[in-house]
Amino acid sequence: MNGAFHYRDGVLHCENADLLEVAEKAGTPCYVYSSAALMGAWREFEEGLGGLPHLVCFAVKANGNLALLRLLARAGAGFDIVSGGELFRVLRAGADPAKVVFSGVGKTRAEIEAALEAGIHSFNCESEPELHLLSDLAVRTGRRARAAIRVNPDVDAATHPYISTGLQRHKFGIAMEEAEALYERAATLPGIALEGASCHIGSQLLDIAPLLEAAERMAALVRRLRAKGIPIRFLDLGGGLGVPYRKEDPKPDVRGYLAAVRRLAAELEVELLLEPGRYIAGPAGALLARVLYRKRSGGKEFLIVDASMTELIRPALYEAHHEMLPLRQSARGRITADIVGPVCESSDFLAEEREIENLLPGDYLAVMTAGAYGFVMASNYNARPRPCEVLVEGSAWRVVRRRETYEDLIRGEEP
Ligand code: LLP
Repeated sequence: MNGAFHYRDGVLHCENADLLEVAEKAGTPCYVYSSAALMGAWREFEEGLGGLPHLVCFAVKANGNLALLRLLARAGAGFDIVSGGELFRVLRAGADPAKVVFSGVGKTRAEIEAALEAGIHSFNCESEPELHLLSDLAVRTGRRARAAIRVNPDVDAATHPYISTGLQRHKFGIAMEEAEALYERAATLPGIALEGASCHIGSQLLDIAPLLEAAERMAALVRRLRAKGIPIRFLDLGGGLGVPYRKEDPKPDVRGYLAAVRRLAAELEVELLLEPGRYIAGPAGALLARVLYRKRSGGKEFLIVDASMTELIRPALYEAHHEMLPLRQSARGRITADIVGPVCESSDFLAEEREIENLLPGDYLAVMTAGAYGFVMASNYNARPRPCEVLVEGSAWRVVRRRETYEDLIRGEEP
């Protein structure tokens, strides 16, 4: 359990909001977010980097809800986007375009044009043809785009293979050995101010050592580039700090990380950019679900709940572990069960062989640490409307995205 979620009189609360009341009034499945947890995690970054020229760019892919983006934007956050859709979201949320960085291996012409038009901080470019396209589009509209090359520091992030990105064999970035030559070629492009270097080695890192190793390698690259006359002014170290999904997981040493990278940035005299997503949004959210049925089959106990892989795909996709808590504590003891959803897939589980409170049909549970890569990865598979999202601020709560309707499911279709 984390700071924002706690029991009061046997009922799980988010800040001062009674989650049984939320589940009953808003319905389930339902995502609930704590504004205090979100902003508290955000402030850890701001405070760790205070006084240094920096930009903490929340990775919108982790959670794109407008209400959350607006809270962050009001606090002065920057944003890391990976699509035109995310650009649209952050602008709607009131973000300062000058604090937006655009990452991603496959930016389209239309997406680049929209970002140029908005006047974003910079583009993290991942290939030579992308640098050429960016330069051409900037020249055509009389602009000069600030850009960084995303370099692959070849550090093993030692995380799940699907979310590790910093090794040579991955599709992301440019290999370190090839980076300098590419910088020299791209520095002459007329539409680009090639003033940055960026990297991102992977996600859900609980040990900061690989992140620091990558930062050192990037700092060395900045020095080599400057020696060649390429004036690097900003360094973007990406995201990647993990969150404890299990009670026994350590919390990453964020303070130590920030102290180390700010020292590096100060020595280099660069503006430091970070792109945290999960660390800021993950612990701030939970997915509420209701038990529909219980059954024993094949010697196993199943809790069939109304949330599934369509609301939270992480267990199915990465075998991810999320803690489960009952919304109301009971004295019924504990059971070991698979917690599964209604979707017609064997991989549709939220937990397997999990020891959990002895929940009965009608009882509610909360799937914890679901604020990042939860709703954003939700789908309409099995024609399931996506759930509602609720934001808690103190004892007040409100629906910040209504549950989809059946009409939403067919919008745009021509029978
Ligand atoms: N910057 C870039 C360039 C990224 O690719 C990512 C994440 C981030 C920042 C944010 O990383 P974070 O601070 O959240 O670790 N769906 C997966 C996670 C995919 C992460 C992809 N890139 C999951 O549910 O675990």
